[in-house]
Amino acid sequence: MTLDRKIRRILQGKPTLEGAGVHLKRAFGFSEVPEFDPFLLLDDFRGDDPRYYIQGFPWHPHRGIETITYMLDGSVEHGDSIGNEGIINPGDVQWMTAGSGILHQEMPKGDNEGRMGGFQLWANLPASRKMMEPRYRDIKSEQIPEINMPNGTKIRVICGDVGGVEGSAKDIVIKPEFLDITMPENTDYLHPTEMGHTVFAYIIEGKGYFSQEKKAAANENLVLFDNGEQITIAARREAVRFLLISGKPLGEPVAWRGPIVLNTQEELEIAFAEYRNGTFIKSED
Ligand code: FE2
Repeated sequence: MTLDRKIRRILQGKPTLEGAGVHLKRAFGFSEVPEFDPFLLLDDFRGDDPRYYIQGFPWHPHRGIETITYMLDGSVEHGDSIGNEGIINPGDVQWMTAGSGILHQEMPKGDNEGRMGGFQLWANLPASRKMMEPRYRDIKSEQIPEINMPNGTKIRVICGDVGGVEGSAKDIVIKPEFLDITMPENTDYLHPTEMGHTVFAYIIEGKGYFSQEKKAAANENLVLFDNGEQITIAARREAVRFLLISGKPLGEPVAWRGPIVLNTQEELEIAFAEYRNGTFIKSED
């Protein structure tokens, strides 16, 4: 008997103000620690009014985490203090490992209709890798493999392995899976999951029925699963699109202040002191 994951709970994104005044929905964050271990936060910054996002996320530091940005509409211009820069366009992913530290800005731009939108996930780094060299993986939309199943279900494999199709973001510390799944109406989907891993789905379009309990979840709902070997999802009268994310919990203490996440309060004090005295950045390229 394969153990089908039940639903632990369904969350609703909370309106949150971030950066220099960006209105977004936070699916989970600081108050949910350690429930989503190894993940820390998921922000949904889809919007169609530039007044609510144009101020963007000006210069700020990160240390000890990875930020994964997945764009659907519009774009985000990214630049950091050691000269890395680029534009994240619709369908693209930026997988940034802040490691020992980066200083960057992320500035959104709408498309022709003023729409801009995407998601940012924060993944924690284990204590042994928190001070690793920062690195970027810029993944263009066309580099993301897409699986088209006979029933019309479409899976974009950003990270992980689905039936031998491997995602473009490889060699990630917490062995995560990051999939963008679209199921047409009247279809079912079963996905194997690693025992002990944290697994959740964030719905971005339509409505679906999750687990064998068939609990309904729609746009901006997050379904957090209990432990098990697989998950089941059904689409009935309408199609559903969701991000399916999983990862291996770290089980380490979390000391979190703003954009910096370490293991102890003392490490946080050091990081903020270094930020104030200009020694925060450890690597030059
Ligand atoms: Fe950032």
